Amino acid sequence: MATITTDQGATYAAVLGFGSYRPSRVIPNADIVDAIDSSDEWIQQRSGIRQRRFATAEETVQVMSVAAARKAIERAGIEPQQIDCVIVATVTHLLQTPAIATAIAYELGTDAPAAFDISAACAGFCHGLALADQMVRGGAARYSLVIGVERLSDLTDMEDRGTAFIFADGAGAAIIGPSDTPGIGPVVWGSDGEQFDLIRQKEDWRDIVAMDRPVLPYLTMQGNPVFRWASFTMAKVAQQALDKAGISAEDLDVFVPHQANMRIIDAMARAMKLPERVVIARDIADQGNTSAASIPLALDRMIDEGQAKTGDTALLIAFGAGLSYAAQVIAVP
Ligand code: COA
Repeated sequence: MATITTDQGATYAAVLGFGSYRPSRVIPNADIVDAIDSSDEWIQQRSGIRQRRFATAEETVQVMSVAAARKAIERAGIEPQQIDCVIVATVTHLLQTPAIATAIAYELGTDAPAAFDISAACAGFCHGLALADQMVRGGAARYSLVIGVERLSDLTDMEDRGTAFIFADGAGAAIIGPSDTPGIGPVVWGSDGEQFDLIRQKEDWRDIVAMDRPVLPYLTMQGNPVFRWASFTMAKVAQQALDKAGISAEDLDVFVPHQANMRIIDAMARAMKLPERVVIARDIADQGNTSAASIPLALDRMIDEGQAKTGDTALLIAFGAGLSYAAQVIAVP
């Protein structure tokens, strides 16, 4: 029997640079309350959201992704041609095929990298990060680009009280590459398909074409059970990610949970007994819930504003439709 040669990757991987893109339309609560019989006060109290960002027609999934990726590439100090793999986490690239990752890779001027999309909803970016980490250490890629991008405004029914005030648009990106020291801890990830229906696209494309007046397949959510699951179960997953990385909450500098709801963020921080000095991402207030884009958008802002510094230890945890989740500790680039 022939002996198959296998890949040998880097000893350690790390995030080398983040980037993000915020679309230009700022939508305050006042602009959406009438259609859902709500109020600015109710929305702020229940979700912490003051305003969100929606993309214009020109700010497509590809446009936002390329802008976020260019910043991440520049920050990482590499050339686009060095990227071996492009992973795009999204649920709002509305062509079923091909993957938007190949078009993004081409526009960036990369040299024919592996390029594919993944669908893990709000948990997509942390899934992509876990894949990229394994690729760099396994030898399948020296540098990987991971993008989380959404145009949820396309799939949100602005008359649905349960979702209209929550979802938003944007893109975040990261370059993962070899490192002399460990920069990405073990991923803790999983799913609970028994709760498949809690957050989902209402109809599939066949249901849509059968409609008298077809609309895009809007998202629907049972907010209350999602809230309970996220607040309690996810704090345990976050703790497991710390345990696997061999650190405690005392060692953390930055906490970047998925920006779903300010009350979920606060409940998790309390359950984990995070020390006061740990800086917590609260981008949800100005940006809304951007699903796969929320973690890199929030962390990139913290880096830009000096709240997260090079070498800081950050815990990321993402969760959402599926239900699916993924968490890991990283060193801030
Ligand atoms: N504006 C004003 N009132 C609203 C409302 C809205 N948009 N939506 C619901 N209400 C009212 C209900 O009618 C109900 O009124 P009642 O008490 O008189 O019957 C009351 O508010 C409570 O409704 P409920 O659906 O139980 O709200 P809630 O406290 O669960 O809050 C969410 C709703 C969506 C804010 C909350 O469930 C949530 O944040 N869930 C998690 C969402 C999330 O993070 N999803 C993303 C995960 S990736």
